[in-house]
Amino acid sequence: MTIETSPDCPPHCQRRLLITAGPTHEPIDSVRYIGNRSSGRLGVDLADAAARRGWAVTLLLGPSALVPAEPSVTLARYRTASDLGELLAAHQKACDVLVMAAAVADYRPKVTPEQLTGKLRRKDAKMVIELEPTEDLLAGCASRRDPGQVFVGFALEPRERMMSSARDKLERKGIDLIVANPLETMEAGAIEAVVLGRDGSARRTEGAIEKAAFGDWLLTVIEEAATCVND
Ligand code: CTP
Repeated sequence: MTIETSPDCPPHCQRRLLITAGPTHEPIDSVRYIGNRSSGRLGVDLADAAARRGWAVTLLLGPSALVPAEPSVTLARYRTASDLGELLAAHQKACDVLVMAAAVADYRPKVTPEQLTGKLRRKDAKMVIELEPTEDLLAGCASRRDPGQVFVGFALEPRERMMSSARDKLERKGIDLIVANPLETMEAGAIEAVVLGRDGSARRTEGAIEKAAFGDWLLTVIEEAATCVND
């Protein structure tokens, strides 16, 4: 297998990718949750593509029916944003590149331990579920990162404000690259993306490309940005 490295990398150098994928499920009680429509497809494909390139890959995967095809991918599962935060804290030091493809909930139901283990009952009166904000995991990881680590986020945005929102998130989260893509990408077979860099760079796919080919396209962009730090 070919390991693609920069000319400065010694032969043993293997890049380490930490990637998150899939939705979060935030419990309302023991049987209900607030989730989102992310399938995890993009992140799982990206994990497989990186493993095929010889990267050491750890995939933090949410409640998704998908699993990576490549046996070398190390898999850990999460359910909630808070579970994912704990996994990231445990794994982030041992990576060269972090890609946050997970669709993380911004709010979770504010529930007591008793509600979490019980089941809400139907009543005639209306029901109000109070939500509390979750932590911005990517911003938290970026604030603790080591020199040389490359952090990549995603921004799924309405087309008309895609570029400005993505630029804003790149700055606000303190990351190196952000993959901006329009909302229509969500359940489509193809993706049209722009990767914005902290250095002001913008790399676009040539129109919409098949999601299966997108992983390799994005990894090439990331490899250009990532220098080898584990030599
Ligand atoms: N993200 C995260 N923690 C959250 C929410 C999002 O780490 N609580 C990450 C996502 O994995 C993604 C990036 O931040 O890589 C952008 O996510 P997005 O939902 O588009 O941005 P938000 O910060 O949630 O902003 P908004 O909801 O206002 O668009």
